[in-house]
Amino acid sequence: MKFRELNKYFSKSKYIDSEFRELEKLCIKDKIPILDRDAADFLKLQLKIKQPKRVLEIGTAYGFSALITAKNTPRSTEIITVEIDLERAEKAKREIEKTKYNDKINIKIGNALDVLMYLNQKFDFIFLDAAKGQYLYLFEYIFELLEPGGILLADNVLYKGKVLSNKKNEHKNRTIVNNLKEYLEIIINHPQLDSTLVSTGDGMALSRRKDNNG
Ligand SMILES: C[S@@+](CC[C@H](N)C(=O)[O-])C[C@H]1O[C@@H](n2cnc3c(N)ncnc32)[C@H](O)[C@@H]1O
Repeated sequence: MKFRELNKYFSKSKYIDSEFRELEKLCIKDKIPILDRDAADFLKLQLKIKQPKRVLEIGTAYGFSALITAKNTPRSTEIITVEIDLERAEKAKREIEKTKYNDKINIKIGNALDVLMYLNQKFDFIFLDAAKGQYLYLFEYIFELLEPGGILLADNVLYKGKVLSNKKNEHKNRTIVNNLKEYLEIIINHPQLDSTLVSTGDGMALSRRKDNNG
């Protein structure tokens, strides 16, 4: 059994909180890309371990992962989530308003490359799930906003296996794949980060910003 299959075999990925199943179905119906169930499990686990006070998410879509984040963090945790697409952001707002997590989640509409520049607070957990070709350009803003000891989790970093493949990538994917490779190089070699890659979902990169104790 290959590692990916093993991971799937043992994971609880068939389970998703019942309160979010309808939203998950809606995202699938509307062809809105959301984190898959394995990735959702990994995100939940990291949130439960870290118990963050302030979470920044980049890429809200309909609010599915923001709600998972809200459910799996302490009552007082503040979540800021950034979405470039106005229609999606408005849909997310409506979906979040229907839940008991409304007061924890604040949606900022705009390109994260602009929005992040104006955020004047730091975060102890950042979840990066926006356009994959932009992770590289977002990194320097994200790093500035990440508290020492803070966690950075990026989804889809293996991009359907294309990042590790030896095959020549099709032209349309080449920039995304090259940018993702460069993003991975940066986080793995960064002197202020400890990072690792896991094959969960479509590949996730987990980093922690060093603090005074390393
Ligand atoms: C994979 S979806 C996010 C899914 C969501 N995290 C979830 O699992 O429910 C990526 C979203 O990022 C948004 N996006 C892409 N580039 C962005 C950027 N530069 N700034 C803000 N949002 C961006 C897209 O419009 C899209 O809705």
